[in-house]
Amino acid sequence: MCGIFGYIGNTKKKVALMTNKALCELEYRGYDSWGIAAESDKKMFSVKAVGKISLASTSALQGIEGNVAIGHSRWATHGGVTEANAHPHFNGAHTIAVVHNGIVENHDAIKSFLCEKLGNAFDGLFCSETDTEVIPHLIDYFITHEKKTFEAAFVEAGRMLEGRYAVVAMKIGEPYLLAMRDGSPLVIGKGNHEYFLASDVPAFLLHTRTVLYPGDREYLKISADTMLLRNLDTAKKVDREWTTVTWDKGSATKEGYPHYMLKEIMEQSLSLDKAIRQEDAKLAEFAKIMKDSEHLFFIGCGTAAKMAKLGELYVARIAGRLAHAYVGSEFKVYEQFLNKKSTIVAVSQSGETADVLEGLRVADAMNARILALLNVVGSSIDRMSKKTLFINAGPEIAVASTKAATAQIAVLMLIAYALAGKLAEGKHLMRGVVKDIKTWLTPDVSYDIQKIVVKLAKKNDLYIIGRGLSAPIAHEAAIKIQEVSYIHAEGFPGGELKHGPIALIEHGTPVIALIPNDETKRDMESNTMELRSRGAYVIGIAPENSRLFDEWIPVPDLGPASPIASIIPIQLLAYHLAVLRGNDPDKPRNLAKSVTVK
Ligand code: G6P
Repeated sequence: MCGIFGYIGNTKKKVALMTNKALCELEYRGYDSWGIAAESDKKMFSVKAVGKISLASTSALQGIEGNVAIGHSRWATHGGVTEANAHPHFNGAHTIAVVHNGIVENHDAIKSFLCEKLGNAFDGLFCSETDTEVIPHLIDYFITHEKKTFEAAFVEAGRMLEGRYAVVAMKIGEPYLLAMRDGSPLVIGKGNHEYFLASDVPAFLLHTRTVLYPGDREYLKISADTMLLRNLDTAKKVDREWTTVTWDKGSATKEGYPHYMLKEIMEQSLSLDKAIRQEDAKLAEFAKIMKDSEHLFFIGCGTAAKMAKLGELYVARIAGRLAHAYVGSEFKVYEQFLNKKSTIVAVSQSGETADVLEGLRVADAMNARILALLNVVGSSIDRMSKKTLFINAGPEIAVASTKAATAQIAVLMLIAYALAGKLAEGKHLMRGVVKDIKTWLTPDVSYDIQKIVVKLAKKNDLYIIGRGLSAPIAHEAAIKIQEVSYIHAEGFPGGELKHGPIALIEHGTPVIALIPNDETKRDMESNTMELRSRGAYVIGIAPENSRLFDEWIPVPDLGPASPIASIIPIQLLAYHLAVLRGNDPDKPRNLAKSVTVK
């Protein structure tokens, strides 16, 4: 999803090139076009393009020297993928440039306001179909017609915006940058006589590790040496702590792997090891809030929604508690059941997913308690939650979630064990799981799966079945395959097969059967038999081989952690399918890593 960047310093630098590099670091968020604006020799330099930032010819950018620049990578929402719609957007005189992540919901009303105020001068003013373009024109209106300063005009415009946004603006001749946020991510980096602004830390990690996260409805004015944070509505000064980023740039590079996705899959024994190192006291506090609740909900989106469902199953099986898991965008309907005795556990890698945030706002309005299981410290969901547990998976760059998903499973299990008052047992079990994954997940596993993938690459459809704890994994498997291979894939609970999907099975249709050594094994074998009798090509993911399988992917027997063993081979299968079909597994078409719009 859109990435924004801003820079201001006290000496002249190749600011356009620096912004281009920063945007490359945000590429993982998903985008379709990009742009840069910089002040150079008191003039506005700008460039916009459709396609890859990393492929931009840097010679034009090389020559642009200055102290101020802003940049943006766009994931189209309002208006198609065109250069005109790419950010930055400008005022009519091309002296004010704005980048924006989020949505201006009342952009039509603002356009009408400007039309009424400007009369004939409104005609031909807008150059794009975006909601964002109202911002520079609105700022310009307040400066030109109401004689406000750039800062006052920016604040006035900000107060008129409805929706969600992180906005950065610059104006030729002004030695400062302005920014504001409400609901969309924004982080400030402090360097030596320079400041950075970005949607996420990797954009400036090469330059500084000292960061500050502004809150919702706060705006800031930054020059090379000063940073002032204020409340957007009251203009009162806000004090927030600078913190230090401790994770390494190294953990955000490919380290010799051809793609981030493969690297992130193969490092899962490490990420799981970090995930289970949760402090007992923190787990206990988290579990206590859950225990004291009358209603327990898990919410998430995409992969995290499937993990939220696993959370529901784990607290039922391990702790004997009833919980309900929903996708963030469908949660509002349950508002009527929420009160101060309800607890909502948000599951999210980024902590920025708009639909989860929306669900949490509903919960907050009903005074429900909010807990979170996240990867990104300081993210919007982190700031909304009463208590957050971090999965500590390190930066996940590939769009398709892999190591974050298994880390979520591991911590959800620990939460369930803590809720059952059996944390020591849970931790012991999870230490064994990490050991087993470390022994099993070698390059040979990847190689063996690659051989199976050759037989699947030309198929049009693929189905996955699982029961019990493996049912959410069957759904997650389908997402993984769809996301990167673009093959039609669907996951079903094994028992649901004969109620419809079995009609789709023809001779040679590939079906993946998830058969761990648990109470679902016998029923899963019957379902697999039904499929084989109708000609399905069965790939079994199981600790033991079976005559029912055409192909067998052996996995360790992890007991209640079997979802971890089942999903890793599917991640590899999806990855190799993507590569074989000529797709970029790290940046699948139409998808974004961090979905910050509803
Ligand atoms: C996007 C990503 C998915 C992710 C989902 C939820 O759709 O492409 O990989 O599972 O968002 O993201 P979150 O950061 O909340 O886990």
